[in-house]
Amino acid sequence: MMRRGRGLFGPMGVDDTGRGQGIGTRLLLAGLGAMRADGYAYAIIAGAGPVAFYEKTVGAIPIPGSEPGLYRGMLRRV
Ligand SMILES: CC(C)(COP(=O)(O)OP(=O)(O)OC[C@H]1O[C@@H](n2cnc3c(N)ncnc32)[C@H](O)[C@@H]1OP(=O)(O)O)[C@@H](O)C(=O)NCCC(=O)NCCS
Repeated sequence: MMRRGRGLFGPMGVDDTGRGQGIGTRLLLAGLGAMRADGYAYAIIAGAGPVAFYEKTVGAIPIPGSEPGLYRGMLRRV
């Protein structure tokens, strides 16, 4: 069986009624923490939207040429 997406985090989202309360930050840190515990030294945040949120919360940097990536045609930004 082919396994795709190892080392990828996301996509993730917070329901619009719950935004602005720190839920997205906690969800992101929990997910990345679980990946670290599983042995990953780095994570790629896939389908990152909005990028500014990830830059601000965990210092993520965009990978040039990585769009649309693995999830081509599968995601809808909300
Ligand atoms: C981005 C998202 C996860 C943030 O979740 P959240 O729970 O509102 O975020 P938090 O409350 O933890 O915010 C943490 C910080 O990020 C900032 N932030 C939140 N949304 C942001 C945005 N769109 N752009 C830049 N900064 C943002 C907040 O201002 C906050 O900063 P502060 O600590 O100085 O106040 C949420 O807005 C979301 O789900 N958006 C839709 C994402 C989407 O379309 N996903 C589908 C896959 S593509």
